[in-house]
Amino acid sequence: MQITIVNDYDELSQAAAAHVMRVLRDRPTPQVVLPTGNTPLGMYHLLRTEWQAGRTDLSQARFFALDELWPLPEGHPATFAATLRRLLIDHGPVGHFDHLRSHAADPEVECHRYAEALGGGIDLAVVGIGRNGHIGYNEPRTDMRAPCQKVELTAQSRLSAKAYFPDLEPPEFGLTIGMGLIMAARSVLLLASGAEKAEVLAQAVTGPVTPSLPASLLQEHPGLIIVADRSAASLLPSA
Ligand code: GLP
Repeated sequence: MQITIVNDYDELSQAAAAHVMRVLRDRPTPQVVLPTGNTPLGMYHLLRTEWQAGRTDLSQARFFALDELWPLPEGHPATFAATLRRLLIDHGPVGHFDHLRSHAADPEVECHRYAEALGGGIDLAVVGIGRNGHIGYNEPRTDMRAPCQKVELTAQSRLSAKAYFPDLEPPEFGLTIGMGLIMAARSVLLLASGAEKAEVLAQAVTGPVTPSLPASLLQEHPGLIIVADRSAASLLPSA
């Protein structure tokens, strides 16, 4: 595990964007998993700038959304697919973008399709961390080996979804790339920002590995890189 502690959110965004760019440049057909949430917004801003300047060849890049709300109508602005399109995908000539279908009739079939689509393996999974330690929508005590799964969302996760769309009655479920596939990724970039993440980050890094805190599983990932700002890292032993 490599932990980089930066001063503030701007530095976190810069470090994250630089890491994504490295993977995009280094691998011939990079498969990169992208999260939603507040944490990566600055990273997306910097990547958009990069795309718009035409400094990166994205024609071979394969992007996949980490998770999705279910059910929601296709193209609903609250879907994570629509969010990622707005934030990044629609800003450059991206080779490939896939996501879990928020309107899938059968979520199990959809999860199977998505896991197959990721068959070549994930080069980089960029993830945030939920306050309860969830990664993507892998909520505590769900299946930690699944490649992809449908999960009943916690009240907190439903509230977070509503924060972006106050009129939205948040769906009860999420579809997510599972910890099984995330643990098999070549590398995982975990981003944490702000004092409200300090406790959960410290537990995830120094506490026991347990399905009660899905992020703790990442301790066993050989290619884990954590980038945290000082506030989020304040309870880590090295901080
Ligand atoms: C959400 C998303 C995750 C995200 C996490 C952290 O529920 N499903 O993919 O990484 O929570 O969000 P934030 O960065 O806003 O704290």
